[in-house]
Amino acid sequence: MMQISDDMAMRAGLSKVIFDTDPGVDDAAALLFLSACPNIRLVGITTVFGNSDIETVTRNALYLKKRFSIAAPVAKGAEGPLVGQAAAVPAHIHGQNGLGDIELDERALPLRDERPAHRFIIDMVKANPGEITLLAVGRLTNLALALKEAPEIASLVREVVIMGGAFSIDGHNGNVTPVAEANIIGDPHAADEVFSAAWPVTAIGLDVTRKVVLGPAELARLETHGGAAGRFIVDSSRGYRLFHKQFGIDGYWVHDSTAAIYLASPGLFRLRKGPVRVVTEGIAIGQTIQRDWSKIYPAGEWDMAPDQNVAIDVDARRAVDLLLGIHMPSLTPSMVSVK
Ligand code: BDR
Ligand code: CA
Repeated sequence: MMQISDDMAMRAGLSKVIFDTDPGVDDAAALLFLSACPNIRLVGITTVFGNSDIETVTRNALYLKKRFSIAAPVAKGAEGPLVGQAAAVPAHIHGQNGLGDIELDERALPLRDERPAHRFIIDMVKANPGEITLLAVGRLTNLALALKEAPEIASLVREVVIMGGAFSIDGHNGNVTPVAEANIIGDPHAADEVFSAAWPVTAIGLDVTRKVVLGPAELARLETHGGAAGRFIVDSSRGYRLFHKQFGIDGYWVHDSTAAIYLASPGLFRLRKGPVRVVTEGIAIGQTIQRDWSKIYPAGEWDMAPDQNVAIDVDARRAVDLLLGIHMPSLTPSMVSVK
């Protein structure tokens, strides 16, 4: 059995997680990581438009639930952003079917929870005060809708962790525009509301996810030793891997799983505190900006927003070891320990 580090053990049994997602090649991999992770209890999967339309990503979530015997219920979420229309789906990255165009047997999929995702989130948070972590790796629309309908949940949520944003750390900027990351520009108004609410948010942005790379050697190990989940991750990510060639990477950046790794082992990350706001119009729409408390500015709107965490560094080698180790429990503990 995999060795759990002190950091992981500290969180053992503490994290009841709702995974808000748009599967999505890297979303699917993150879901498989979460469902195999010994110190995470996945209590719900909520879907949101993004890597494909809402029908497709919800079907993909149900497919993954069935294929990998994931107990958590699936609730369908928003089909578009708070303001305006959803952008065209990025089929050139995630495939037409959102899962790298691998063949999916979609017969006899399980039924989904009848509640809309934001209502599912509200109900779960109220039923488990102080215990639910929201891990959101897509547009933040469902979270913003939940806050709008039941603002009181802000004080009842344990933690909000998002894969999203780009904070110009070590030169990491946007992946949709020079300043905007996909999950944020996909619904900038929702993102601004989520960052501005009085709940603890940690952003795992491109600044750190671009440091965590699965290369050919890691993918080969996953395929050979990672069981059904490992083979699925490799199969579904072939097109995703090709897409990354233009950036000079053989393999791919691990976006959504890096946010899941933060939940499993937060000690692998370095965080910076400060209010975060999102640009909601104009040329810089979707930009995420964190106020730097070491600088003095005249009083202004920034001072009103609560401090949030932004990940500014990650121990990438140990993050990859942890990811592989979760899917390869038969390897020796020393190879997979994150200690
Ligand atoms: C994010 O955008 C999506 O393509 C990925 O699933 C990830 O959540 C990276 O910018
Ligand atoms: Ca995603």
